[in-house]
Amino acid sequence: MSASTILLTKSQGIATLTFNRPEKLNALNQEMTGELRHALDDISQDASVRVLILTGQGRAFMAGADVKTFLGASPFAARRFVQRAHDFLFRLEALPIPVIAAVNGFALGAGFEIALAGDFIYAAQEAKLGLPEITLGIIPGAGGTQRLTRLVGKSLAKEIIMTGRLLDAAEAQGAGIVAQVFPEDKLLMETLKTAQVLAQKGRVALHFAKQAVDRGAEVDLQSGCALEVDLFALCFASPDPQEGVKAFLEKRPPVFQGEPA
Ligand code: COA
Repeated sequence: MSASTILLTKSQGIATLTFNRPEKLNALNQEMTGELRHALDDISQDASVRVLILTGQGRAFMAGADVKTFLGASPFAARRFVQRAHDFLFRLEALPIPVIAAVNGFALGAGFEIALAGDFIYAAQEAKLGLPEITLGIIPGAGGTQRLTRLVGKSLAKEIIMTGRLLDAAEAQGAGIVAQVFPEDKLLMETLKTAQVLAQKGRVALHFAKQAVDRGAEVDLQSGCALEVDLFALCFASPDPQEGVKAFLEKRPPVFQGEPA
């Protein structure tokens, strides 16, 4: 896809979306917001895409919203900006495919918030993650106060948000924010390896696993387990469980062909 602030490539069922304003550490401006929306339309309509990788060009994943957006902004303009960001992130989060954020450098503000809306984060050893909005006299506005809190609990989330300090990859992994850490030159290759593993799994089971975790995390245990029971049963609406079990018994790799509705 040709766009100036992002790059979208697809190969063997894996789409890679790269934030591409390296001279501004990939800061999110209006143009990039529009291009990201189009890229998401493209990805969600392309049934050949089985996994999405998000990453950044240069030394940042994304160093947040472009701070110039806020100069002279009225409360209404500020509201529109963050509401659009939320709309985008809810759509990203609801994609039926796995989304891996490969955090290659700074993931700050909106950059961190985008990574948090994916399914899991892989980070380079040198990566720095944080929500430094407080330093600008504002608060995170694209889900940071909510998604980070749900992930690490109120105490650490408030400490990170209220101080605006940056976490290195090791601390972020220890806090359960980052799933795995790699040397910078191995990050994309390792992310691709995981994406290739995921691309071989059944789309239906992946979609339901994602829904069970995401929706289940928002409700009480009984309701979450009831949701799991229903989604488990719904897996049998596709041919994949038969194929998976047969392939196991026949000692061959499964070929999953079920499609989420
Ligand atoms: N918005 C707009 N421009 C940004 C930016 C942002 N969020 N983050 C970085 N940039 C720009 C810088 O202004 C600079 O541009 P210039 O070369 O035209 O002056 C360029 O990217 C490189 O950044 P620089 O600050 O020189 O790099 P650094 O290595 O010294 O510092 C950071 C890196 C990430 C610590 C620093 O850029 C920073 O604090 N950025 C702002 C982070 C932030 O507050 N994000 C939340 C916004 S809501």
